[in-house]
Amino acid sequence: MTARPEAGAGTMGGGQPWSIGEVSVRELTRRHVLVPWASQASLPHPVIDHGEGCWLYGPDGNRYLDLSSGLINVNVGHAHPHVVAAIERQARRVAYVVPSFATDVRALLAEKLAQYSPQGKLTKVFFTSGGAEANENAVKMARLFTGRHKILTAYRSYHGATYGAVTLSGDNRRWAVEPGIPGVVHFFAPYPYRSPFRVPPEEQAVAALAHLEEVLLYEGPHTVAAMILEPIVGSDGLIVPPDGYLQGVRQICDRHGILLILDEVMAGFGRTGRWFAAEHWNVVPDMITLAKGVTAGYVPLGGVLVHSRIASYFDDHVLWGGLTYSGHALACAAGMATLEVYEQEGLIERAARMEAVLRGRLEELARRHPIIGDVRGKGLFFGVELVKDRATKEPWVPWNSSNSGPTGRLLSIVMQKGVYLFGRWNMLFVAPPLTIREDELDFGIRALDEALSAVEP
Ligand SMILES: Cc1ncc(COP(=O)(O)O)c(C=O)c1O
Repeated sequence: MTARPEAGAGTMGGGQPWSIGEVSVRELTRRHVLVPWASQASLPHPVIDHGEGCWLYGPDGNRYLDLSSGLINVNVGHAHPHVVAAIERQARRVAYVVPSFATDVRALLAEKLAQYSPQGKLTKVFFTSGGAEANENAVKMARLFTGRHKILTAYRSYHGATYGAVTLSGDNRRWAVEPGIPGVVHFFAPYPYRSPFRVPPEEQAVAALAHLEEVLLYEGPHTVAAMILEPIVGSDGLIVPPDGYLQGVRQICDRHGILLILDEVMAGFGRTGRWFAAEHWNVVPDMITLAKGVTAGYVPLGGVLVHSRIASYFDDHVLWGGLTYSGHALACAAGMATLEVYEQEGLIERAARMEAVLRGRLEELARRHPIIGDVRGKGLFFGVELVKDRATKEPWVPWNSSNSGPTGRLLSIVMQKGVYLFGRWNMLFVAPPLTIREDELDFGIRALDEALSAVEP
């Protein structure tokens, strides 16, 4: 029988700060919690007590630099007082009202998102609790609006873990739900470092667009409701498309009456140095799906930002979708406060300025570590691709492989050096809070440097 935790256990409760009654937090977690995307038996469960700025603190006094902003969502850093105060205030007023009632925080947040949407043309928001639900609802709206059913999506992509969203996704996280939802067709998008089209980087955009046209020829463009793309691919390889690609996709969609949905769940909210990554290429999509950075992870929130042309369709057609937590007041208050932090602290511009610093540090690492095959990114959103051999580009750990042991070992060495870093197979994701200082960044890069030396042959 487990000893019961007392109210205020943890650092506040006296005694051993990492124990709850007689049992450790780690042991209780091992006994009673299922952790995503993992076989459970050997998980280390590092315990976190609190966070501040770019740092997470364990109850044992250890601290870790959060070099990946959690799962690339804690863009304003941890325990930001402005966001914390807004959450406290809203919790005292009202945390939840049904979606058919209006609140000031939901209305103001929706207005601000519309203002920051590309060219201000995406004027309405359907709020969800996270990114997967946003993509599910975007697909549903596209199908309702067009009366068509197919959805085209890239192999190198991730759109969430619910049945529909993970069917859209391209990596092995999809396999467990297959056959998934019907009507999803995958295609190859550009990957300049490893061209699926076997052409040099400068020919990628043209080759990728020709491939997309060919896929459409066989699928029948009149059957396709939407294409969904990450403007910069996140956890599936941090892939920045060549200039011209997204513009070309927009033109193809327009030619065939297909809607373009950009999944900005990871790339949005300053991560790439712009409010939305689509701005780098001046593309106005029909919908943007968002989550993560909208509240910087303080309260779960997602949404679909919808072009006025599509939003007005639902003036006299039922929007067949709903969630208990659509427009959750506490989450919207956190969202408003987070957007105010971006504005007041100039964090979007800061991420754009810091790009050169981060790129410089990572390229310097690449000069000393042959295991680094490629460094790429925008703003404070960078990927480091590891290879066995620079000439052949053989991945350090094969993509979609069931053996991620070497990656786990590398990340745990980084962690021992006081840095949390997110990585998958042969990709490391260096995406710190947009507030990070240069000396903090240097601390993180030094840990990575030493860890790479430790795993290099
Ligand atoms: C691009 C992208 N879309 C969607 C999602 C899913 O978001 P959530 O985990 O909030 O459902 C993620 C999560 O990492 C993501 O990176």
